[in-house]
Amino acid sequence: MIRTVSRLFLRLLNLFSRLLALAIIWHTIVRAVRYFYKFPMPHQMANLIDNPWRRKIQPPGIMPIRHGIEPGMKVLEVGPGNGAYTMEIASWVGEDGGVIAIDIEPSAIERVEARAQAEGLENIEARVADVVNLPFADETFDAVTMMSVLGELPSPQLALMELYRVLKPGGVIAFSELLVDPDYPLARTVIALATDAGFRLKNQEGNFFSYTLVFEKVSW
Ligand SMILES: C[S@@+](CC[C@H](N)C(=O)[O-])C[C@H]1O[C@@H](n2cnc3c(N)ncnc32)[C@H](O)[C@@H]1O
Repeated sequence: MIRTVSRLFLRLLNLFSRLLALAIIWHTIVRAVRYFYKFPMPHQMANLIDNPWRRKIQPPGIMPIRHGIEPGMKVLEVGPGNGAYTMEIASWVGEDGGVIAIDIEPSAIERVEARAQAEGLENIEARVADVVNLPFADETFDAVTMMSVLGELPSPQLALMELYRVLKPGGVIAFSELLVDPDYPLARTVIALATDAGFRLKNQEGNFFSYTLVFEKVSW
């Protein structure tokens, strides 16, 4: 009996190690390809990355607070994907605030619009736009939020300059990243990029596997 159980245990361990090795190899290959070829996440992936495991680490209802967003704020969300976080931000900022979600992929925008309508949220506006060329006046937003987007951009420096422009002085900009994302940037890379763009680090939480960085726009 003990021998059968230990044999089964060893087999399971073996299977688990093989699966883990395959996942690491796959992740490394995708990461290497993504390093040279940047393109927006295929829209079919949007629902795949919104899964129960991720919701435990980055709970949609908690992320607006983690990102320094307060009720009444006017928020710009870059790259909303399937809109799961957009809905929570809109509920959190309430009627006195609002969310404008922009995405380079029209399908993402259609999804956000449909979801906002289905959930009866009227303080959401969704627009197709490239983050490096935003259709907004200077100092429009109180907060900018980006989850798993920065590493996907070919020119993160240009994006940060543009976000600096549309953020009000004293406004916050926050980034959350997960190691399993093939475009995951190191926290120190994001800090260096954001600091170069003129932002000052206000809060940092999480660890190597999952982190959130919140910066403030300071007028130097
Ligand atoms: C990995 S997905 C993250 C989606 C969502 N934020 C989440 O965490 O579930 C990245 C999103 O950024 C969008 N995106 C990529 N490049 C962009 C750009 N230059 N301007 C605006 N959005 C962009 C993609 O279309 C996609 O919806």
